[in-house]
Amino acid sequence: MVNEAVIDPAGGEDSINTGRRRFLTATTSVVGAVGVGIAAVPFIKSWNPSARALLAGAPVTVDISALQEGQRLVVEWRGQPIWIVKRSKAILEALPTLDSQLRDPESENTDQQPEYVREANPELRSIRPEISVLVGLCTHLGCSPEMVAEIRPEPFDPNWKGGYFCPCHKSKFDMAGRVYKGVPAPINLAVPPHYYTDDNTIVVGVDPSQSNDTGAA
Ligand code: FES
Repeated sequence: MVNEAVIDPAGGEDSINTGRRRFLTATTSVVGAVGVGIAAVPFIKSWNPSARALLAGAPVTVDISALQEGQRLVVEWRGQPIWIVKRSKAILEALPTLDSQLRDPESENTDQQPEYVREANPELRSIRPEISVLVGLCTHLGCSPEMVAEIRPEPFDPNWKGGYFCPCHKSKFDMAGRVYKGVPAPINLAVPPHYYTDDNTIVVGVDPSQSNDTGAA
């Protein structure tokens, strides 16, 4: 089973916008689908700015020290769900084998990830191999896809190697957020700007080259 923690930094605020409501609805359904809620991983913490600052795009600092293989941590940045996923060795080994089935296996669309992420590894699309950071919104119509992380046959793909499935129109992405051919979503999931301050801390919303300017850490 996949564990998941959803951090709601602005919980209880009345001044949420429509995009945020859509996000909360989507994340609620994802948690319900896997049957595991926040209580399953109560030790995962983050230090977030206020809701007003979040909507203005302030960076979000996230402690990933308790994130285990197969888990997804969800935080919010600029009103969007940001997924932080720890991938297993088996998942990492499967990713390059999928290239022929994907639209943009080498991450050539430069709008969908920062250059330093592509340079680190265009197939893994991450700074550190095991940690994937993605904007959790489908590039078709903006739904939040489900994470189906296990390598096993699924009704929507008998050769499934783990990834994300958007049930509304059946778009599929691998565990690097790369979109499959033949689905409605046209491009890979986006990777947000981010950097590490240490092994266990990610700042989402800032490029490494700007890290000294923000004081985000
Ligand atoms: S929004 Fe994802 S397939 Fe339509």
